[in-house]
Amino acid sequence: MRGARRVEYGEGVARIAPSILSADFAALGDAIARVEAGGADLLHVDVMDGHFVPNLTLGPPVIEAIRKRARIPLDVHLMIEEPERWVDTYVRAGADWVTVHVEACTHLQRALSLIREAGARAGVALNPGTSPECLRYVLDDLDLVLVMSVNPGFGGQSFISSAYQKIRDIKILVASRAIEVSVDGGVKRDNAGALARAGASVLVAGSAVFGTPDPAQAVRELRSASEVAK
Ligand code: DX5
Ligand code: ZN
Repeated sequence: MRGARRVEYGEGVARIAPSILSADFAALGDAIARVEAGGADLLHVDVMDGHFVPNLTLGPPVIEAIRKRARIPLDVHLMIEEPERWVDTYVRAGADWVTVHVEACTHLQRALSLIREAGARAGVALNPGTSPECLRYVLDDLDLVLVMSVNPGFGGQSFISSAYQKIRDIKILVASRAIEVSVDGGVKRDNAGALARAGASVLVAGSAVFGTPDPAQAVRELRSASEVAK
């Protein structure tokens, strides 16, 4: 994987992945530098197409620009229809991890294979209403499961607490495989510990990081909240 720091498994510490959706898009370089100073492990980048979700964000040229600034790996969350068509483009633009929504894929296994063949790590996102059972026959094609704890499309929404049980169910399903379990939506200091205890190894947080005056400190606080409660 291109110069990126590899996420290790089994260290008992959740990785912190700030979502730039809540950052100032006119000052992304500064936002990235701040969270890196706070020790962020991954940079979560939300791509929305206005069809799969009712919002539009950014595409490959912006990912390329971010790649030039960021030292940490890019965790690209594709909230787009027919993601198979775009996987290669996003990996070439600089994505280290590419996550597609199971609800947007007719051929999920093909999409995951394409991500790995392009040289990135393959993730699947599950909307709040989607059962993890759909992952059973693609476990060997997977590096990450992204549990959506809000309905995707916007930052700053309230956490849906059924995510705890879903994380626990996914941990049982993946058994001893080296698959990251990430949680995205409404993640804050006050639920970070419980999420890590349930089995989340990556915590994605947008407004809890960039909605504060000091994003670096917010990253540190999320990490310590997740460690203390382990
Ligand atoms: C929502 C996105 C999230 C979003 C989370 O569809 O996938 O990554 O940035 O924002 P918060 O942490 O504010 O809920
Ligand atoms: Zn996201």
